[in-house]
This record gives sequence, C-alpha cells and structure tokens, in this order.
Amino acid sequence: MKILKAAAEMRAASRRTRTGGKRLGFVPTMGALHQGHLSLVQAAKAQSDVVAVSIFVNPTQFGPQEDFAKYPRTFERDCALLEKEGVEFVFAPSVDEMYPNGAVTYVIVERLSEKLCGRSRPGHFRGVTTVVSKLFHIVEPDWAFFGQKDAAQVAIIRRMVRDLDMPVEIVVCPIVRQPDGLAMSSRNTYLDPQQRKSALVLYRSLMRVEEVFRSGERNSAKLISAGKEVIAQEASARLDYLEVVDPDNLDFMPVISADALVAMAAFVGTTRLIDNVVLKA
Ligand code: PAF
Repeated sequence: MKILKAAAEMRAASRRTRTGGKRLGFVPTMGALHQGHLSLVQAAKAQSDVVAVSIFVNPTQFGPQEDFAKYPRTFERDCALLEKEGVEFVFAPSVDEMYPNGAVTYVIVERLSEKLCGRSRPGHFRGVTTVVSKLFHIVEPDWAFFGQKDAAQVAIIRRMVRDLDMPVEIVVCPIVRQPDGLAMSSRNTYLDPQQRKSALVLYRSLMRVEEVFRSGERNSAKLISAGKEVIAQEASARLDYLEVVDPDNLDFMPVISADALVAMAAFVGTTRLIDNVVLKA
C-alpha cells in the first residue's frame, strides 16, 4: 500500500492505473476509521480493480465553534486497517496541499446545501462539496463510495456530479450499525458510557417513526411528532432536527407518496450525532 501526500503523486498513480486498463474505486474519508468506512472500502474492492482511500480532516467543512481541532486523528491505525483490506493507495494530503495560500474558490450546491445539517451548520456542505470536487479532480476515480448515514451529503454530492458533469459514478452503501442499533460514527468516540446509552434514542426514535408509518400513517407531521415523543423521553438528548424529506432534493414532504428520507440530528451532551431511515412508499 502506497501512502501519497502530494496531489500530483496521487494523480500520477491514478493515471498509471487507468492507462493500464484498470478501474479505480475511491473512498473519501476524514480518517478515524470504523466498520462503516471499512464497508465502503469492501464495496470498492468488490467493484474496482484498484482502490484509493483519502484521509483528510477537511477544515472548510467545520464551523468556527465546531470540533475540527479535537476531531479524532488515528492515522497509523487507519493505515493498518486499510492495508489489511488490500487498499492500494492512501492519499493523505496536508491542509496546505489541499488549500494553498490564497485559495478562495468554492463549489456550492445551492438550495440543497441549506437543508438539514446545512441549516444548523452554515457553510458545512460548501466545505464538503469543495473538498470532494478537489479530491475527484486529483484522484480521477471511476467510482466513489459514500455512506447512506450522511444522506444529505449523498444527495448534494450526487447533484454536484450531475450539474458539473463530473465523470465519476457515485455508489451509496448502507448504514452500518452496532448490534444495539447505534449508527457507526467517528464522533461516537466522544461519548462516555452513559451518553453512549443515551445516544440510542436516535435509533429508537427512527424506529418509532417507521413503526407508525408501517401502521399506515402517511402524514409527515404525525410521523415527526411520534419520533419527537421518543426523543423527549431522553433527558440528555437535545433534538436539532427531525424531518421527512425527498431523498433527492431534500425538500420537505408533507405527505408520503414516494420514498421518503427521515433524517435527524441530535446532541447527546456536546456531541452532535446524525442518523436516518428511508421509508419505502
Ligand atoms: O463524509 C465524510 O467523511 C466527509 O464529509 C468527506 C466526504 C470525506 C469530505 O471531507
């Protein structure tokens, strides 16, 4: 496994791969890898001849009061895990490599970027789409793999790729959960044992929404209030949002007549967690 720090080196490795007739799968990450990331790597391995993974904690997607400085950085461990999975290239640039002095250009997917997490984290999706488009230009993958856990990110990246004719296919992989239902997240490491228990309320609340939906309810306001009742029972959780939206454009769906994304974010202590479920019409 080769660890590459320079964009030019990564691009040259990708071009050598592709001119050799091999197809390249790419998994962008911010490191602190867990089973969710590894499931993306495994999907990439199954579909591609060669796999590249990026590890870059992207400063432009964190707000000034957010956890950029304390975001877990476990580079050595991450590389050992990736090597075990048979990854060929790890692209691990510095902040200066990705954002050379004077960089002022951003990629913005309008409207969608202001929904869900974009509403409570202004500028977050602008940072994501900017870094992902840079990574796509550098890595030039055939396929890029993303997790359904970040459902809004998926919708926004798909739209960016479509609108800007980026020559990459987006592959979305299912949420990986711990046995009790908690969605895998690098931020779970912030939770103490009591908060870890409280964090299960996100999943419980989504399961309640799904149960009410299965019983025949199609009115989103009623589904949302069923989910909120569950959250309200957990004193240490503070809801940021719980919404029912169209999974493609993230518009609010008042009545469910097609597949609907139920997305939520909640704070447990100071840790902000997200989760979602898709209701199949
Ligand atoms: O999902 C993530 O880990 C990040 O948002 C991504 C896609 C690697 C961009 O920094």
